[in-house]
Amino acid sequence: MTAVAARPPSTLYEVETLTDEALRDLLAYPETPAEPRLRANFIASIDGAVTLDGAGRKLGTPTDRRVFTRLREVADVILVGATTAGSKPYADLRVEADAQGWRLSHGLSPALRLVVVSSRGVIPPHLLTATVPPIVLVSASATSSARRALEAGGAVVCEMPEGQITSAAIRRALGDLGLNRVLVEGGPTLFSHLVAGDDIDELCLTTSPMMVAGPARRIAVTPAHVELGMRRRDVLLGDDGTVIVRWIRR
Ligand SMILES: NC(=O)c1ccc[n+]([C@@H]2O[C@H](COP(=O)([O-])OP(=O)(O)OC[C@H]3O[C@@H](n4cnc5c(N)ncnc54)[C@H](OP(=O)(O)O)[C@@H]3O)[C@@H](O)[C@H]2O)c1
Repeated sequence: MTAVAARPPSTLYEVETLTDEALRDLLAYPETPAEPRLRANFIASIDGAVTLDGAGRKLGTPTDRRVFTRLREVADVILVGATTAGSKPYADLRVEADAQGWRLSHGLSPALRLVVVSSRGVIPPHLLTATVPPIVLVSASATSSARRALEAGGAVVCEMPEGQITSAAIRRALGDLGLNRVLVEGGPTLFSHLVAGDDIDELCLTTSPMMVAGPARRIAVTPAHVELGMRRRDVLLGDDGTVIVRWIRR
């Protein structure tokens, strides 16, 4: 792996100089975390927009897509809100064969799990036909018909306290399921709850080399001001102009 500059506490890498294996090693979670570690991954435009023409993936670049895949390969579980779960990258969470060896040698199971947060207990129907059934965190206020539909489709339903599901309850549920390497892929609504609850341990933020202006949101918006100090860790640069910064909680 080629570091072009090493000045603690952060290290700068050119992504094209790293093999997929080296990227997995770089992005690996701490050895067998004893409790859930919540790492979020987002892409935004230079001017902070989280979507382009209504979709986050339209901000994507080849470098982002490569690192996005590696981040998944080193995680136990992807955590998303119900709206994000409806987008294309959740239809098939298969881990490619060349990543399986890495997963097995690092104590991960072959299958990547999907956890969807939905107070109403409603998820896109196509997720119910996935080879590995999704886990759905639903609030006690969800209707019994919504819960029945999930169970009939093979989903694992975890009932949470009534109303909006708190970040502490999400963290607890993941811990109870033994899913500690958590990759939060959004969207902004879910991420905002996790930020407000002080439950984000790490953020991989990709800056896409474009300005988009428009009405798009930021990655986190909360009614009240929140301040979380972050420490810059790795900086990954792509030939296509992409900049990825890995931020860790101080
Ligand atoms: N740029 C990026 O990296 C990126 C990443 C992800 C998504 N996006 C974009 O963001 C947009 C979707 O954003 P979003 O904020 O609407 O999506 P979201 O957070 O995925 O979904 C919101 C829904 O998730 C459920 N939810 C989230 N947090 C909850 C909580 N604490 N308790 C209970 N339910 C909770 C609720 O579903 P119920 O109504 O069913 O209760 C809520 O309506 C899409 O356009 C997508 O393309 C961009």
